[in-house]
Amino acid sequence: MKPISLTNKEQATADKELQADLADQGEIPDHIAIIMDGNGRWAQNRGNLRAYGHKAGVNSVRDITEACAQIGVKYLTLYAFSTENWGRPKIEVNALMHLMARSLRKEAQNLKENNIKLQTIGQVDRFPKKCQRELREAILCTKENDGLHLCLALSYSGRWDITEAVKKISQRVKEGDIEPDEIDDETISAHLSTARIPDPELIIRTSGEYRLSNFLLWQLAYSELYITETYWPDFRRNELYKAIQSFQERDRRFGEISENNTKESMNLSVQELTS
Ligand code: FPP
Repeated sequence: MKPISLTNKEQATADKELQADLADQGEIPDHIAIIMDGNGRWAQNRGNLRAYGHKAGVNSVRDITEACAQIGVKYLTLYAFSTENWGRPKIEVNALMHLMARSLRKEAQNLKENNIKLQTIGQVDRFPKKCQRELREAILCTKENDGLHLCLALSYSGRWDITEAVKKISQRVKEGDIEPDEIDDETISAHLSTARIPDPELIIRTSGEYRLSNFLLWQLAYSELYITETYWPDFRRNELYKAIQSFQERDRRFGEISENNTKESMNLSVQELTS
């Protein structure tokens, strides 16, 4: 049987219905972070160069960003280039830089029109000048927007982020601005590159790898993990909706116990437990 082909308009209507269902079913996370993985394998499985997978991955970036903006996600953080990625062959790194510069130039106006605010975390000053320029321009172009915050993690690693925070806090201690005893969770969060961004409620990793790969190590302490086998270039909004649905079914306890499972409802006294 031939698949039913939908026109763009029908597709948009079907998508709106899915989005409405998702919002009715439960909470939409304020902050979603994504480890976009599997571009290289996606391309190699098709007998193509790895860079071809990164190029295809940009279409997923566009679709996921647009869907997040439409369903009311406030922050979307994408792991676009890790500190460790500098160790890849020069030809792949160059292809990625070129792709990023080109995509930013092409998409800046789109971001602006969709009320999306672009920002970055990471050592962007390690990027080629051209890339830095495109980034600056796209950030400037979207600076008045107050819809979705699209945060690109570029030359980023969680350990780098924590190390930088420790340096800043140590300096403040040295200057007598803060006492060592006063340092707590909030102090550390406030000195990370994500200081003005809430911690992600949901972290998605594509391509079936079960690791964090040095991404947002501090910020992910209580995030719900969603791992899919799908390679990033095939990860589109329907997959995102599945991830959010899975998030909505989780019982988030933050190390405590759920409300309907209190000591009273378990009907056990401390004495019974210890005797
Ligand atoms: C991981 O797949 C992906 C990356 C290292 C790069 C992701 C970057 C993009 C999709 C371009 C983003 C562009 C903008 C403007 C944000 P991999 O190469 O590690 O795949 P593999 O695990 O199959 O080798």
